[in-house]
Amino acid sequence: MENTEKKVMFSGIQPSGDLHLGNYLGAIRNWVALSDEYTCYYCIVDEHSITVRQNPAELRKRSTVQLAQYIACGLDPQKNTLFIQSHVHEHAELGWILNCYTMFGELSRMTQFKDKSAKNAENINGGLFTYPALMAADILLYNAHYVPVGADQKQHVELARDVAVRFNNIYGDTFVVPEPYIPKVGARIMSLSNPSSKMSKSDPAGCVFLMDSPDEISRKFKRAVTDSDTEHCVRYAPDEKPGVANLMGIYSSVTGKTFEEIETEFDGKGYGVFKPAVGDAVIEKLRPIREEAERMINDKEYLKGIYTEGAQRAEYVARKTLRKVTKRIGFVEKPF
Ligand code: TRP
Repeated sequence: MENTEKKVMFSGIQPSGDLHLGNYLGAIRNWVALSDEYTCYYCIVDEHSITVRQNPAELRKRSTVQLAQYIACGLDPQKNTLFIQSHVHEHAELGWILNCYTMFGELSRMTQFKDKSAKNAENINGGLFTYPALMAADILLYNAHYVPVGADQKQHVELARDVAVRFNNIYGDTFVVPEPYIPKVGARIMSLSNPSSKMSKSDPAGCVFLMDSPDEISRKFKRAVTDSDTEHCVRYAPDEKPGVANLMGIYSSVTGKTFEEIETEFDGKGYGVFKPAVGDAVIEKLRPIREEAERMINDKEYLKGIYTEGAQRAEYVARKTLRKVTKRIGFVEKPF
């Protein structure tokens, strides 16, 4: 139920790839813990994902699979508003408006834009450039106080803040000024094959997907990069042994054990014992999530009910904010 005393959280993940362990341990699992304390909106941001070319059939499928996975990861659709961005057209509308309050220079400084344009040199489109204005619209439509994001998205949230402040200064208090919310116990999960970069779908060998079979997970962990020293001992030393530190971080995240406890557990045992043990712990953690998601994916009507209700709840709030904005900037009120 809507509770005016609760602060609002908003976050989103693009349906541009299958969700993986990094999304779960670094983001979605923390969202679950916030459900009671905050009014939470979690969006499947399909409009953002088309800034990079998508296969239509896959985009459609991944959007509903992602919803099933949100729920399977523990996000209760009664306590959280779960919806698909393109179903609430206010996002695109406010996105356009905010484009007009976001500076070319600001957008040019965004590191994600620079990275993505380097990676997609053949398709540096306007949407890729103005992506942060749409993201600001996502956040500002719901009067979000906090935006749980990883470090890579902090710059975008700060831009949303700047745009909100700028708009408020011109037109009077309109938007809640949002803040990034970086979880206290945030696990930053790195690639199993290249522990210096974040776990990512673009590096499938180092990426454990939520829907991977136990055999696949086991194989990926057995091949995980550890280190090239001769010590071969499980010791937490992120600078010297980033691969081992990452595996310890994963093991700690899924079992709740501290690094010290892990060091003791594997004392004298070597990586040949440690790596499969991490794999097994992850398999058991993901098993119920995968099974629950698979069950829901086959229940299309159930999922449709969830995203319909989510969009209706979201639209109610979004419409009010957009009305306020269009009135302030001087658009003639729509008579119907
Ligand atoms: N840009 C985010 C990402 O790529 C996704 C996103 C879109 C988002 N809109 C948002 C995240 C609003 C938080 C709030 O990860």
